[in-house]
Formats: sequence, structure tokens, C-alpha cells
Amino acid sequence: MPWGNLFTRTYPKWFLVKGLYISLDGVDGAGSTTHTKLLAEWLASRGLKAFATKEPTSGRIGSLIRDYLLDEGVHPAVDALLFAADRVEHSVLIRKLLNEGVIVVSDRSIISSLAYQQAQGLELGWLIEINKYSLKPDVPIILDVDPAVSLSRKRSLKEKFERQGFLELVRKHLLDMASKNGWFVVNSSRSIEEVASDIRDYVAKELVRRGVSI
Ligand code: TYD
Repeated sequence: MPWGNLFTRTYPKWFLVKGLYISLDGVDGAGSTTHTKLLAEWLASRGLKAFATKEPTSGRIGSLIRDYLLDEGVHPAVDALLFAADRVEHSVLIRKLLNEGVIVVSDRSIISSLAYQQAQGLELGWLIEINKYSLKPDVPIILDVDPAVSLSRKRSLKEKFERQGFLELVRKHLLDMASKNGWFVVNSSRSIEEVASDIRDYVAKELVRRGVSI
């Protein structure tokens, strides 16, 4: 099922935009933070207006989510609703930037909710529904790595999702959705430079396809 089909129904007219919304999602430790920063810096170095951002945000709901990430006893639906609420607020900011022609690069997006909260046992249809008023990335990028490798990259493991078995399920959902929707998957078990180079090549191609020379 292409991305367009999965979300067409939930795409209100007022989300039509001039800029470009790029997202990077992967299991914990896959490198989305590093590659979001590198990609935004590279775009800026090419003279494009780029803005790096992240989910969960550092706003009010994002801060609440930080607390919940340490709490094992929460019903998964509560996590899902908090991520969705945080994302609606984030979407307001992203939409404003897109309307100004900015390329927004986000460390995580709705795709993380669809993968992580599905791995928590929630229904995909409901997850799409509660994210109905959030923006969907134009250019989704999946950073793929074995959780055994990605977790070994982390200095400390404190949050409830940072478990190998759980992240293996998250990875399966990410790859499954990527293959159904034709999203770009990059092998993120390689060096930072190799991965960054593949991401740059792909994004350059996507920009050229949209008439932006880079
Ligand atoms: P993460 O990007 O790892 O933040 P940080 O590196 O600052 O700790 O995100 C925190 C966790 O939240 C991570 O395990 C992924 C998870 N997550 C979801 O489960 N659903 C979501 O919608 C998002 C955005 C993140």
C-alpha cells in the first residue's frame, strides 16, 4: 500500500505546502539524531533553508512524555495519545515553516508512533486515526539496524523501550511499512559517513525530482 493510500483520507487541504518535510525514523540507537543534524547542516551548506527538529518535542507534552518513558506501568494507549498530542503541536510549527518554504528535517515522526505503539500491541488503524491531524512526512527515511548493534551504541539504557526484544518488533514494523509504502531504507549499521552519504544522495534525488537543483 503506497504512503499516499495509507494517509490520503487524513490529508486536509490546508496541509498543502511549499517546503519539504523529511523524517528520519529507526529503532533506538539507529542514529536518527546524528543524521538529522548532518542532513540539515548539509542542506544549509547548499544554500537551502533547512530546520532540524525532533519528536518527542521539548515542549510541554514532550516533557511529560520523558516522564512516561521511565514508567513501565502505563497503558500503551496513554503513550500513544501523548505522542499524538505532542505531534499535533509539532505539526503546527512544521506547517508554518513549510509555508515559508523551509525544508524541515525531523528526528522521528508519526512513523515512530506507528512502529513503536504497534509493537506495544495497539491497532494500526487506531494509531492512524489519532494522528489524523498531524502532518505526514513527504520524504520518509528509515534507518535500519539490528537492535543488538544499536543498543550497544548507547551509553546507558534508562527508557522502557530500550530493550532488544521489543526493538526487534519495532524494526519488523518499520521494515514492513517501508516495503508496503515504498519508503527509503538505509543500512545504518555502517559508519556515520557512509550512511550520511546515502541519505544525501537520496534527498538530492528527491529535491531534483521536485525541481530543486542542489
Ligand atoms: P528518542 O528519539 O529516542 O529520544 P531521546 O534519544 O532523546 O531519548 O525518543 C524517545 C523514545 O520514544 C524512543 O524509544 C522512541 C519512542 N517513541 C515512540 O514510542 N513513539 C513516538 O511517536 C516517538 C516520536 C518516539
